[in-house]
Amino acid sequence: YKKLKEFPDNFLWGSSTSAYQVEGAYDTDGKGLSVQDLHLPENGNTDFKIASDMYHHYKEDIRLMNELGMKAYRFSISWSRVIPNGSGKINEAGLKFYDDLINELVKNNIEPIVTLFHFDLPLALYKKGGWNDRQTIADFIDYSKLLFNRFGDRVKYWLTINEQNVMINHPNAVYPADAELPSKKKLYQQNHNMFVASAKVMDLCHSMILDGKIGPAPNITAIYPATSAPEDVIAADNWESIRCWLYLDMAVYGRYNALVWNYLQEKGYAPTIYPGDMEIISKSKPDFLGINYYATATVKAAKNDGHDCQPRNGDQQVMLGEEGVYRSAQNDNLKMTKFNWIIDPVGMRTTLRRIYSRYNLPIIITENGIGGEDSLNEDGKIHDKYRIDYFKQHFLQTRLALTDGVDIIGYCPWSFEDLVSTHQGYKKRYGFVYVDRSDSDIKDMRRIKKDSFDWYKKIIKENGSNI
Ligand code: BG6
Repeated sequence: YKKLKEFPDNFLWGSSTSAYQVEGAYDTDGKGLSVQDLHLPENGNTDFKIASDMYHHYKEDIRLMNELGMKAYRFSISWSRVIPNGSGKINEAGLKFYDDLINELVKNNIEPIVTLFHFDLPLALYKKGGWNDRQTIADFIDYSKLLFNRFGDRVKYWLTINEQNVMINHPNAVYPADAELPSKKKLYQQNHNMFVASAKVMDLCHSMILDGKIGPAPNITAIYPATSAPEDVIAADNWESIRCWLYLDMAVYGRYNALVWNYLQEKGYAPTIYPGDMEIISKSKPDFLGINYYATATVKAAKNDGHDCQPRNGDQQVMLGEEGVYRSAQNDNLKMTKFNWIIDPVGMRTTLRRIYSRYNLPIIITENGIGGEDSLNEDGKIHDKYRIDYFKQHFLQTRLALTDGVDIIGYCPWSFEDLVSTHQGYKKRYGFVYVDRSDSDIKDMRRIKKDSFDWYKKIIKENGSNI
């Protein structure tokens, strides 16, 4: 019933990866270890040590990015590759790798969008207490300063921390395999320290980089009430505030969301706020919001009977629900992926609208995609029609959100090429480009374009006008 708006001319069609999931070369050229080097995806026999070996294949990969017509590439820098112990000595060879990578992108007219920290804390800092140690704030600032200094002439888009909310709500993805997970109280202290660190780094970016733009990259999703029962609506509101608005309110408004602060106090999770912290946080402001969107969640009122918290679809790694706060519910309107992730394109439009009406800042979709079991066909190709269908719907809903008035400036699907999924290794693939290896056999790592590659190439060429 309404005419669709066109994607803006300079729309940043791109794709995403993260350092530890693609680079490999985990101890090459002086790189220090990160927590991910001691982490193992479940049910898989791969680790993150070789991954897709982008460290040695980046030129070939960027050639493919160019062929795809990508306008932007969102990737992260491995902190322990450039500062092996997280603080102190700098590793020039690590800096050179990113220097070369960035130069290659610029040469190919691809805008680099750099995440400072994506799940891979240097192991040396983890051993000293990680984000619970206030020193990590100072170390993160020094590390960011180094990157802004070296790359700020070519990198104009920066992201502070990837999915801080996921690290707090599902910490199992960011700890070594045998580590004991911290208490909620400790996690919310880490959370607070990360807020202070991000705020300082946003300010630093603005003072160091001419035209520099920086924002957070949380995983945001609309939360639906299971029914119109007012109690379910309150539960949805609770979880949406705790899971989403806490993070964006801090980044944009520089204050704790009042409902969440009250919840933290009631539960005994409230962090210690040190003198000056809130001034730092309230002073800084992002230029845009990076948003990772995968799926909505549906919840109902908590029963407070000891069973509000349950594993997600039988997945023991991800627990959903919180005693007395909300209980996870099934949404019969939505289909699931083979890996039991909800598929909800319209939910993406809802999520984008909610974010924009609260914060009024330009949005870059920094992650969105579908994980599946791709395999090399006898004809030498990878027929991932399900991925094309997925993006067709999500691109359309993004265009509808744009038409609704949401300011969306870029879209970087997850992922450019196959990489190690945080939980299922190479059994679950996300790329437009297939990487010929399995969990147990690294084969030749050949890059092969999937059907979705050709489809996405056409979308970019037409600037999404035929979606
Ligand atoms: C996001 C992360 O949460 O989801 C990525 O930022 C991750 O690092 C992606 O790979 C998909 O999740 P998974 O568990 O399927 O790899």
